[in-house]
Amino acid sequence: MKILVVDNAQAGGQKAFQMIEEAMEHGAKVLGLATGSTPIALYQAMTESAVNFSEMTSVNLDEYVGLSGEDSQSYRHFMEEQLFSKKPFKETFVPNGKAENIKAECTRYDEVIAAHPVDVQILGIGRNGHIGFNEPDTSFASKTHQVQLTDSTIEANTRFFEKEEDVPTQAISMGIASIMAGKEIILMAYGKDKAEAIRATVQGPVTEDVPASVLQNHPHVTVILDADAASLLTQK
Ligand code: F6R
Repeated sequence: MKILVVDNAQAGGQKAFQMIEEAMEHGAKVLGLATGSTPIALYQAMTESAVNFSEMTSVNLDEYVGLSGEDSQSYRHFMEEQLFSKKPFKETFVPNGKAENIKAECTRYDEVIAAHPVDVQILGIGRNGHIGFNEPDTSFASKTHQVQLTDSTIEANTRFFEKEEDVPTQAISMGIASIMAGKEIILMAYGKDKAEAIRATVQGPVTEDVPASVLQNHPHVTVILDADAASLLTQK
């Protein structure tokens, strides 16, 4: 794993954007994208740039079960607002949280991923070490699946909703095996809240207790951190 410590989220977003540009120069066609506060600076860097994404495809990590793409809290809506409405892509995929049959939707999404192998996967990380919505104890062999969100994730997400009761408790998430299939992975984390998850991910054992620790087994991972998120790492 390559660790980069940057001044702040803006600098981290710029760095991740440069890495995406380089990958595109080398033929990358598919970006695996994340939602949440962490990648906002990256999406800002992308939308403010002159780079053309109209030949690019994106495959998002996850979506809440029960929310349609028009719902302002849905991850589809977030992506439209932050990126796709400003920088058109050739095709964009986000799981359908309103699918009648969630199991069939998971299978469909695995087919989408298989047809569009991810060149650069963008990740944030949960305070409990989750990637996508793969919570602790998710199998490293998992493909797209329905997830019961943990209390800590629901609590962390309440900041985006008016009332805690409105926060969805289930999601559809790309699995850990699918995330690991990305050719290159960029994980970003900012703030003290993420420091312990980053320590466990980078310097702890590889264990399903800390989903992101699986990234130690991937040959091409860059971890972009601010000083707070890096504060529990010891020099090796
Ligand atoms: C979102 C996702 C999650 C977030 C994580 C961190 O698509 O997959 O794993 O990356 O929960 O969220 P923020 O960035 O809001 O701290």
